[in-house]
Amino acid sequence: MAQFQEKAIVTRVEQLSDENFRISFTSPQIAKEARPGQFVMVRTVGGSDPLLRRPFSVHQSLDDQTVQIYFKNVGRGTHLMSQFRLGDEVSLLGPLGKGFTIKSDRPTCLVGGGLGIAPMLLLTKRLATLNKIPADIRVILGGRNAAEVHPLVADFEAYGVTVSVATDDGSLGEKGFVTDLLNKISLPEDTLIYTCGPDAMMDAVYKVAKSKKLSCQVSVEKEMACGVGACLGCCKMKANGEYTHVCINGPVYNAEELEWEK
Ligand code: FES
Repeated sequence: MAQFQEKAIVTRVEQLSDENFRISFTSPQIAKEARPGQFVMVRTVGGSDPLLRRPFSVHQSLDDQTVQIYFKNVGRGTHLMSQFRLGDEVSLLGPLGKGFTIKSDRPTCLVGGGLGIAPMLLLTKRLATLNKIPADIRVILGGRNAAEVHPLVADFEAYGVTVSVATDDGSLGEKGFVTDLLNKISLPEDTLIYTCGPDAMMDAVYKVAKSKKLSCQVSVEKEMACGVGACLGCCKMKANGEYTHVCINGPVYNAEELEWEK
């Protein structure tokens, strides 16, 4: 699949909560190619400090022109990104990695927690365009509180899917975890679960999927220095004891391929 290093122009900066931001770039080559679950590497400044690009899931691609990413301002690189202004020129590399495998003939349930909500929006868009009844697509979103999740809910609902929310403090939706909701809802027997979030959350989602005999694809969040298989810094253990490099072999895997907590 084609990959590009593109000079992208910042067209929108949204601060969605105290720490969470969404940035839109005009980046037509990447926007045309990006598939749900793929990611881009963003150079946070024009100079060499910080030197390395940062990886971000493609949150949305719009009109074959615009790429959106969603992130939390937690370190030097993301702080610099939160300062991006309209018209800034930023180097994007992508789309990278292997995204979700789409099975348009299967019922689907998407589970995103925290920043793992990011890739679920493009996946929702893709599935909703393929499904005659988008309301049959179940989306479960989770986070610490309403501030973290609420700004994104309408973007999912705009595709006509059925959205449920769980928050740790109960300030939006159900008080508890996404897995509490996943356990409760009744899903058709051949439902495919797609999930992204912290490892512990995906582990728990996978356990629920197994208990319901459902297949599950996970999108792994991992630190990445190069994004193209050159630095070997994104290793993850597989179920067979071998290591996989998330940037080129993932970030999406069938859950049973990976090593999880016993
Ligand atoms: Fe460099 Fe994966 S990030 S090999």
